[in-house]
Amino acid sequence: MRAAYVGGSSATDPASAVEVGELPTPSVPEGWAAVEMRAGALNMHDVWMLRGVARQPDGVHVLGSDGAGVYDGREVVVYPVLPGRVTSKVVAHATLVSDLGHGLLAETAVVPVGSLVPKPAHLSMAEAACLPTAWLTAYRMLFTRAGLHAGQTVLVQGAGGGVATAAAALATAAGAEVLVTSRSAEKRERALAAGARLALAPGERVPDLVDVVVETVGPATFEHSVLSTRAGGAIVTCGASTGFVAELDLARLFAREISVHGSTMGTLEEFRALLGLVEEHRITPVVDSVVPLAEVRGQVERMLAGTAFGKLCVSIP
Ligand SMILES: NC(=O)c1ccc[n+]([C@@H]2O[C@H](COP(=O)([O-])OP(=O)(O)OC[C@H]3O[C@@H](n4cnc5c(N)ncnc54)[C@H](OP(=O)(O)O)[C@@H]3O)[C@@H](O)[C@H]2O)c1
Repeated sequence: MRAAYVGGSSATDPASAVEVGELPTPSVPEGWAAVEMRAGALNMHDVWMLRGVARQPDGVHVLGSDGAGVYDGREVVVYPVLPGRVTSKVVAHATLVSDLGHGLLAETAVVPVGSLVPKPAHLSMAEAACLPTAWLTAYRMLFTRAGLHAGQTVLVQGAGGGVATAAAALATAAGAEVLVTSRSAEKRERALAAGARLALAPGERVPDLVDVVVETVGPATFEHSVLSTRAGGAIVTCGASTGFVAELDLARLFAREISVHGSTMGTLEEFRALLGLVEEHRITPVVDSVVPLAEVRGQVERMLAGTAFGKLCVSIP
């Protein structure tokens, strides 16, 4: 089968470690399924694998935590977290299918049968492939961790990101008012066109303090996130595109009783609920671009350049 996989590793030039070529079709253990993949989407997790972390030391590592395809004649999306450590409440230390080497950027992917969920009918395969990681993460951040409800206000930092575009769309569908920040004027325009009420430059003062902040950027925006949260409000963080150590004004946190929630991926129940919400509101994930499998390296380069708006997708075969 043709697949995009990790060939070596490079901390400084991860895109150079992407290989596309023929690999043996994997065997299918009891309780697992061989899915004919049609599309995948890239995440920072793939970059970590290409940098030599977030993967097992030996064996071939097919890239891709996210994908949609066909199993037994049915169109399916793959829930990306391996069963095991995940309970109905806690997702901490989740292991992804791709962590084992069975990534989804391949003509055939072998995944647990229980991970297959029907694809929302209105979505293309590439659009559906966006849902497993970024969209599931955004769903859990907003609804499980922050308890978002209609009428609240949400600030989404870094509007162009995969998780950010998902959070903005899901919060809008849930009846919340969305404000975004982005470094790029073009991305701010696109966020407004997608339904945000206000798009600010990074660090620009919000007109009214918000109920919830969606943080994926890290130190570059965290202080602004704290300054933008109302008393009793919440900041939810799932990532740190600009580094893992941020300065916090603790006085502001405790005096204003601001909660900070960590969040990671989501449960299978949340994934099913996400797909239900996407179907109900006919939400279409924002896709930056779709390229053939042979061009995965270019998508990794685009992710690292920070120029994308929405998800970077791959069509298969
Ligand atoms: N814990 C989990 O389960 C989980 C799941 C998914 C992702 N993550 C993590 O969450 C983070 C975001 O993931 P993603 O897939 O959304 O990434 P992404 O698509 O690459 O988006 C990152 C966004 O961050 C913003 N950004 C980057 N550098 C910035 C800077 N110097 N100043 C201000 N903004 C900056 C950009 O927004 P603008 O260009 O619009 O400014 C960019 O669109 C990553 O760290 C990823 O590893 C964690």
